[in-house]
Amino acid sequence: DSQKKMYNRSFIIVGPIVHSKEITRLTVFDLGLIAVSDGKIVAVEETANVAQIQEKYSITDDFVYHLGDGEFVMPGFIDTHIHASQYPNAGLGYDMQLLDWLTTYTFPLEMKYSDLSFAEKVYEAVVKNTLANGTTTAMYFATIHFNSTVLLANIAADQNMNWNTPDGYGERTEDSYKLTEDFIIQLKDKKNDLILPIITPRFALSCDMELMKMLGELASRYDLHIQTHISENVHEVSAVKESFHDCTSYADVYDKARLLTNKTVLAHGVHLSDDELKVLAARGTAISHCPNSNTSLKSGLCDVRRLLNAGIKVGLGTDVSGGYSLSILNTIRNTLDVSIHVSFGKGEDYAPLTYHEAFYLATLGGARAVALGDKIGNFEVGKDFDALIVNMKSPGSTDILQKYDTDALVQKFLYTGDDRNITKVYVAGRQVK
Ligand code: GUN
Ligand code: FE
Repeated sequence: DSQKKMYNRSFIIVGPIVHSKEITRLTVFDLGLIAVSDGKIVAVEETANVAQIQEKYSITDDFVYHLGDGEFVMPGFIDTHIHASQYPNAGLGYDMQLLDWLTTYTFPLEMKYSDLSFAEKVYEAVVKNTLANGTTTAMYFATIHFNSTVLLANIAADQNMNWNTPDGYGERTEDSYKLTEDFIIQLKDKKNDLILPIITPRFALSCDMELMKMLGELASRYDLHIQTHISENVHEVSAVKESFHDCTSYADVYDKARLLTNKTVLAHGVHLSDDELKVLAARGTAISHCPNSNTSLKSGLCDVRRLLNAGIKVGLGTDVSGGYSLSILNTIRNTLDVSIHVSFGKGEDYAPLTYHEAFYLATLGGARAVALGDKIGNFEVGKDFDALIVNMKSPGSTDILQKYDTDALVQKFLYTGDDRNITKVYVAGRQVK
């Protein structure tokens, strides 16, 4: 009940506001206001006409929060691809590439999630630490285990594997399908619109065509999101081509299973052909760009500019534990670095991504990638108030230096900030940090 009261409480934040309305440039109000009621944004104004808004929404002075020197408010980060179950391996095992890494490090760890108490410890840490690092929406992979995945259900995903699986870590097709449907029904019964079940065939090498088709049908019947991996590693791509002779490409495998929809997010997409990009663009399917993982597992350099030019929606993913950090700030830096590295091989007119573009990819771009662009991602009236209060005067920051304008504070945060600078985190209007 007290949680509900907190949730329903209306408040106003007054100060510098930063968000994206489009990819090309940030929108910055040096002194604006955001009013929140019932978890939703009810007003966003460039000049802070506080008294009028207070009166309109019956908000007393106690619930008007003025940001101080060095502070700004921005939308929460969206992690479009993170394996909650792999968190204990973050930072380990980068002496191998994808396929060996999976069998040597990843599957053995994921098998431990038959133990609920192990799962509970990890998932609690993952949720706490992602929130503390400013991730307000995460598209989670879990494991094949029903009970531990339900444990993660507050921000959870199911995951399917019935093929090429190590002994003791696989599912029979019927079980995979049935457990997935049970999971969907259980989440639907919870009636919490902050938690969505997601259809998760792990990738084309761990699900056969029969199961993928069944999952595609399930996604369509319940109108669900879908997540999987695509074209991450060259050896993986060859293996997929060898395994699915009647498909013309990796993307065609998923397309034939009806897994490419406008609610599908494909992680990586490092080695996609131009024809595959056309298919993804036509289906409205998004790519989760995971540069920390693509570098750590030596998968390759993903050319995000090329994806964007092809009209594909792009969000950012940490891909823990292919990536070692669950911080989207880290992913932003890797995105900028990789984009510069890609540009070295191109002509003068190839433009590496800017920090304004990276900010978009981490917020509104991510929201659009996960097909929630009308609910989250920036500060528009009617959207959930998912937000971070950033304080660049926190430890390790700029308080000894000169005054910076808001855009410079954002730039400094993206390049030099960390979780200590994220002093408050809101999800749907509720303060969670
Ligand atoms: N492809 C299939 N499974 C995985 C996984 O767990 N991590 C990564 N990075 N790629 C995958
Ligand atoms: Fe992944």
